[in-house]
Amino acid sequence: ENHQLWGGRFTDEPSEYVQSFGASINFDQKMAAEDLEGSLAHVAMLKHTGILKDDEADQITVGLQQLQKKLAAGKLKFTIENEDIHLNLESLLTEEIGPVAGKLHTARSRNDQVATDMHLYLKKHLQTIMDLIVKLQKVVVAKADDNVETLMPGYTHMQHAQPISYGHYLMAYYEMFKRDYDRFEFNLKHTDISPLGAAALAGTTFPIDREYTATQLGFTDVYKNSLDAVSDRDFIVEFLSNCSQLMMHLSRFCEEIVMWDSQEFHYLELSDTYSTGSSIMPQKKNPDMAELIRGKTGRVYGDLMGLLTVMKGLPLAYNKDFQEDKEGMFDAVDTVEQSLTVFRGMLATLTVKTENMAYATTHDFSNATELADYLASKGLPFRQAHELVGELVLKCIKEHKFLKDVSLADYQKLSPLIATDVYQALDPKTAVERRTSLGGTGFSQIKKQIAEAKLALK
Ligand code: ARG
Repeated sequence: ENHQLWGGRFTDEPSEYVQSFGASINFDQKMAAEDLEGSLAHVAMLKHTGILKDDEADQITVGLQQLQKKLAAGKLKFTIENEDIHLNLESLLTEEIGPVAGKLHTARSRNDQVATDMHLYLKKHLQTIMDLIVKLQKVVVAKADDNVETLMPGYTHMQHAQPISYGHYLMAYYEMFKRDYDRFEFNLKHTDISPLGAAALAGTTFPIDREYTATQLGFTDVYKNSLDAVSDRDFIVEFLSNCSQLMMHLSRFCEEIVMWDSQEFHYLELSDTYSTGSSIMPQKKNPDMAELIRGKTGRVYGDLMGLLTVMKGLPLAYNKDFQEDKEGMFDAVDTVEQSLTVFRGMLATLTVKTENMAYATTHDFSNATELADYLASKGLPFRQAHELVGELVLKCIKEHKFLKDVSLADYQKLSPLIATDVYQALDPKTAVERRTSLGGTGFSQIKKQIAEAKLALK
């Protein structure tokens, strides 16, 4: 004899080992609330269409509501024998209201049921993640607003390139997060579709009303093809890909925080609340949170690769392989929500070492382009100006000085085009302030971008 809910055609039981290998209850219980929500909509539809008698449907509804209460109170006990969240809840419903519980699964399969749960679960968390992105963007913009005139070296190849504003640097990440937000918003459209009523794969002979359940559950659309409805996991692939890109942005931001929090740079200092000490070295204050977010990016990429690989050879329609879609999705949801939250606090509380950043912009050659541009604006072909300034930089390096330390007499020996206003041009603040081309680091451009961002974040 076989005691499983589906045991009718079986004579033998699976071994405990096989049962536990096949079970998903240890992780899919995360969707218990969504499963009950889906069942409530389904039974409401069975009543509405007359597929179940009113009193049967009402008993089931009351039973499901009872389970909702117990779930909220942490009083539901799940078992491996009942395999997954769907069978567990059906068996708990039977304990609650008796054999009439068996009518709930009319015109439904676990295949459309599990797909519905995942759509509901992801919809909720997409909204949470989008809200968290906006909260982070607000911190980024506020920090940028405080640092419009904070000068720092801009880098290419990790070499001092040209001076920029730290506010401008921050607003670059604002833009990246804006695109991340847009991607999740698009993802939400693809998740806001109801698979319920596709049944096992082919639809059903019962006169169900799929639009009714979709509306009950707050979906704006229904899957148009029953095979697609139960076989599709591309909304999760899309989600994991969006998470990967978001984490990639956070990870780069974190890399810079780790670097700039070091003694060599000391452009930033993390607050104590987002740092940790060493068990052996008393002087240490480590940027663990930034490193951890950088590290967790790897597992989110792994979640994406995992699901893509699970999906690539699967024939339509349902295959048990799909059960492997869940842990990666849950992991990415948790990782992204936690990373966004921790990162926000870390950024909000870090101190910007403006004097160290400024010092770096006056003790380097990042104003060399200014000198070349200065000569070019006075009529010297840029290529010649570039050559001339390059030679001067080499000479300065040998003499241990910077461009601002070259005397006017020496400048005029270099080129008669140079006058005393050269020192103004070499000043990093002037260099930054003047870059007012659209999207440039000029203060007026940053202020414009910040104003637009504030409006968009309202
Ligand atoms: N636990 C299963 C999953 O996660 C639910 C669907 C089971 N359907 C089936 N035909 N075995 O995919």
